[in-house]
Amino acid sequence: MVKKPDNILVGLDLGTTKVCAIVGAVKDSGKVDIIGIGISPSHGLKKGVVVNIDSTVESVRKAVREAELMAGVEIDSVYVGISGSHIKGINSRGVVAIKNKEVNPSDVARVIDAARAVNIPMDQQVLHVLPQEFIIDDQDGIKEPLGMYGVRLEAKVHIITGAVTSIQNIVKSCSRAGLRVNDLVLQPLASSQAVLTGEERDLGVVVVDIGGGTSDVALFLEGSLWHTEVLPIGGNHLTNDISIGLRTPASEAEKIKIKYGCALSSLVKHEDTIDVPSVGGRPPRVLSRQILCEIIEPRVEELFGMVQQRLKKSGFEDMFASGIVLTGGAALMEGLQDAAEHYLGLPIRRGTPRHIGGLMDVVNSPIYATGVGLVLYGAENQQDAPRKFMSGGVMNRFWKWLGEYI
Ligand SMILES: Nc1ncnc2c1ncn2[C@@H]1O[C@H](COP(=O)(O)OP(=O)(O)OP(=O)(O)O)[C@@H](O)[C@H]1O
Ligand SMILES: [Mg+2]
Repeated sequence: MVKKPDNILVGLDLGTTKVCAIVGAVKDSGKVDIIGIGISPSHGLKKGVVVNIDSTVESVRKAVREAELMAGVEIDSVYVGISGSHIKGINSRGVVAIKNKEVNPSDVARVIDAARAVNIPMDQQVLHVLPQEFIIDDQDGIKEPLGMYGVRLEAKVHIITGAVTSIQNIVKSCSRAGLRVNDLVLQPLASSQAVLTGEERDLGVVVVDIGGGTSDVALFLEGSLWHTEVLPIGGNHLTNDISIGLRTPASEAEKIKIKYGCALSSLVKHEDTIDVPSVGGRPPRVLSRQILCEIIEPRVEELFGMVQQRLKKSGFEDMFASGIVLTGGAALMEGLQDAAEHYLGLPIRRGTPRHIGGLMDVVNSPIYATGVGLVLYGAENQQDAPRKFMSGGVMNRFWKWLGEYI
């Protein structure tokens, strides 16, 4: 197998239900072709967080090996996703005086430094500092301040932090699997990169990535990230509810959910039935599909209720004209879009990876949004990452963009 050339990037999605490695080749045009994918069941994570390093290492090895075979390259470094309820997002701002009347890169670096100078608890580490907009004197909404005249430069940024211990466990799992971490990327940020269009980001949109253990929410406005939430509800909760409600093993409940599940019982015909295997050697039963949907519905309502409440609290309610994009494996459930529309009263669409070439059909599912997004993020922010990561997280994109001016 050949060593991985520089134009080949790998995204590693450490999910609660699956670990997935996606290999992308960046072409001269900047476009990314997907050339390999490896997937293995995940047993070492709970609610998006590594809780068992040995099991995680094993899943990572399997997924990476499979991806290596498919792509025909050796994988030694990865862009890894991070999620979990330890993730915090805050908006902050900083102000500096413009030194020589005209904004130069050092003014921008200073103002970003000023904006990131917020009190972060000792047990948290900065993962991203994402510029939202710059304000020069009284002119707001500036995306590229370099070269502009003024006296006072202000920056608004979104800072994302994660628990140091969770970060260390991810890095350790990767290094034990023989992988260097290029960068740690917030999972919903990666998913958004894969499923959103530029217009949606500009107009205002909310991405809800409903995975197995968590639902990750990211709100974009005028092209930038303004709000993030990690909600502790995912597809696994539906499986558990079904397992308890129908008194069937979890593995069967998962199959029933995928085959017959529907998020709105009004969409299901009254005469529809499902076969339910029983526990303890009892014979299987035939039940109405309506009963299954009545088990699913309250959990879906709880999830979207939580999304609505958090968006309201964020202060950005009614600011996302493009509505909501649902992604993650649970977004595949029948009726979920209708349910979201019903509970949230907004336009809803399902997001699958876009902006890619190559094995598009293989990754054409919301399950792969994070993995593909990590590759796209890497392609946009590629640089000598370990140094950057060790320095405590940064806004690669910003530095790259700044680099073009220096
Ligand atoms: N067709 C389907 N209908 C309903 N649910 C589905 C379907 N396919 C997959 N799922 C559910 O999607 C979930 C897995 O989604 P995904 O692969 O995005 O999660 P993950 O990335 O492993 O987890 P997380 O992001 O929470 O850490 C599981 O709960 C699974 O049951
Ligand atoms: Mg996921």
